[in-house]
Amino acid sequence: MSSATATLRISGSTSKSFGETVEEGNPGGEITFRRGTLEDLNAIHDLDKRIFPPAVAFTPDAFLFLLINPSAVTIVAENHGKFVAFAGMERKSKTEGEVVTIDVEPELQRHGIGRALMEKLEDEAKLKGYETLYLQVAENSEGVVCFYEKLGYEKTRLMKGYYGRGVNAWEMKKSLKISRQLPPSLEGRG
Ligand SMILES: CC(C)(COP(=O)(O)OP(=O)(O)OC[C@H]1O[C@@H](n2cnc3c(N)ncnc32)[C@H](O)[C@@H]1OP(=O)(O)O)[C@@H](O)C(=O)NCCC(=O)NCCS
Repeated sequence: MSSATATLRISGSTSKSFGETVEEGNPGGEITFRRGTLEDLNAIHDLDKRIFPPAVAFTPDAFLFLLINPSAVTIVAENHGKFVAFAGMERKSKTEGEVVTIDVEPELQRHGIGRALMEKLEDEAKLKGYETLYLQVAENSEGVVCFYEKLGYEKTRLMKGYYGRGVNAWEMKKSLKISRQLPPSLEGRG
C-alpha cells in the first residue's frame, strides 16, 4: 500500500517519525496506520461523539461520505489492532485539499499519533498534486491551534459562526510546495 501504512512505537522510547526515537515514558503500545474502510464507520463515529459535543460532532453520513468518496483520503491508527484514531482529507480543488477531521482517543493524545496522522495526510496530498492544505479549527480550541501551528499551519482568516451561533473558527493553511531554492554551494551551477 501507500505511505499510509507504517508503525509508530510508543513504548518507553517513542518513534514519532518512523525510526527516530524522540520521547521516553509513554504508555506501552505499537501504533499502526492504514487506510480507513467502511468497517471503521462505527468506531470513527463513536470516537467523534465522545470527543465533540453534539452540536459539533459529525453525523455518521458525513463519515460515510468521507469513507466512500474516491477523491478523499482516510487514515486509521490502531494500537495492537484496536482503533484509536482517525483523520480524513477531501479534495478542495485540483491543487488544494482540506483536512476534514482528526480525532485521537483521549488517553492516547500527546503521544505523537496526531502528528503522524497529519504527516500521512500531507504525504498523500503531495501525491495527489495538492500545493496547499486547508482546515478549520474552533477559535477557542487553543491547544488544537497550537498543534496545527507546530505542524506549520498558519491562521488565514476568522470564520464567524462557523460552528454555530457565536462559535467562530480559524481557517488555517499550509503550503506543501517544496522550496526550489538551492543551497549557496550549488547556486550558479547549471
Ligand atoms: C488535536 C489532536 C488531533 C492532536 O493529536 P495528538 O496525538 O494529541 O498530538 P501530538 O502528540 O501528535 O502533538 C504534536 C505536537 O502538537 C502540539 N500539541 C498537541 N496537542 C496540544 C495541546 N492540546 N496544546 C498545545 N500543544 C499541543 C505539541 O507541541 C505536540 O508536541 P509535544 O507533545 O511533543 O509537545 C488531538 O488532541 C485530538 O484528537 N483532539 C480532539 C479532537 C480535535 O479537536 N481535533 C481537531 C479538530 S479541528
